[in-house]
Amino acid sequence: MFRSATSFALGALFLLALVNNVLAGTAGCGKTPTLKSGTQTMTVNGKQRRWILRIPDGYNNTTPYRFIFGLHWLNANMNAVDGGNAPYYGLKNLAKNTAIFVAPDGLNQGWGNSNGEDITFLDNIRQKIDEEFCVNENLRFSLGFSYGAAMSYSLACSKAKDFRAVAVLSGATLSGCAGGNDPIAFYGQHGVHDSVLNIAQGRQLRDRFVKNNGCQSKTAQEPSNGSRQRITTVYDGCKYPTQWTAFDGDHVALPGDNGADSGPNSFTVPAVWKFFSQFE
Ligand SMILES: *[C@@H]1O[C@H](CO)[C@@H](O)[C@H](O)[C@H]1NC(C)=O
Ligand SMILES: *[C@@H]1O[C@H](CO)[C@@H](O)[C@H](O)[C@H]1NC(C)=O
Repeated sequence: MFRSATSFALGALFLLALVNNVLAGTAGCGKTPTLKSGTQTMTVNGKQRRWILRIPDGYNNTTPYRFIFGLHWLNANMNAVDGGNAPYYGLKNLAKNTAIFVAPDGLNQGWGNSNGEDITFLDNIRQKIDEEFCVNENLRFSLGFSYGAAMSYSLACSKAKDFRAVAVLSGATLSGCAGGNDPIAFYGQHGVHDSVLNIAQGRQLRDRFVKNNGCQSKTAQEPSNGSRQRITTVYDGCKYPTQWTAFDGDHVALPGDNGADSGPNSFTVPAVWKFFSQFE
């Protein structure tokens, strides 16, 4: 009796481990979510915080989904990422209902991350999403432009184990970098004549993850001002994919080849989606 109960329990555990391993799904797998798409609130360190959730159409709670944070720039808010002509930096359209998207709202329209409060906020959302929805824990991502790039970089510094990749569009170290030694897949891009955050600041972010990822060093060529070119450098020998695009342009999230904002037609949109969707 005792023996067969034990071996039954062991067998069940083994099966559970197998299923979990195959699906890599979070606690929300198999559950009916209580959250609906739209604005959510949460209290973090005594402050009321807001975020927008977009659940894919036809959500299936036994399919582990990708999870993507879209972080807004300075003097903007979550609505700017969720709306406009390229929601979630254009990725929402390309994902075709294969990803759960979240646009969190920064304090004072930025990501000052005072004493790590924004990292805590994002981590609390990540946990809430894991509990509510079926998420593939190997396929969580964050991207943003400018201050939102700085915050995605900060997340890569502090939470590399929870995220698969970040895309840092014209960023700088504005939101800190606690930890900062773990490898994570890194997509960086920056305009060669960025008049808000100089490209040297973007190179600095890139170089941290070139190092953390153990890539071979390589000189990343950059196009000259007025060339209307962009040059992408893919680093070799890295633990996780690491790439950098320098484009002829200023401080623009979704540039076209003339450097001007091109919204959903920017080269950035398919490039970031290709980078994120290479992981299975
Ligand atoms: C839900 O997802 C599971 C696992 O991917 C799949 O086997 C099942 O057919 C899906 N259900 C529907 C209704 O699509
Ligand atoms: C780069 O070119 C733009 C116009 O194409 C010009 O406004 C800017 O001053 C140039 N910047 C540098 C650093 O040469």
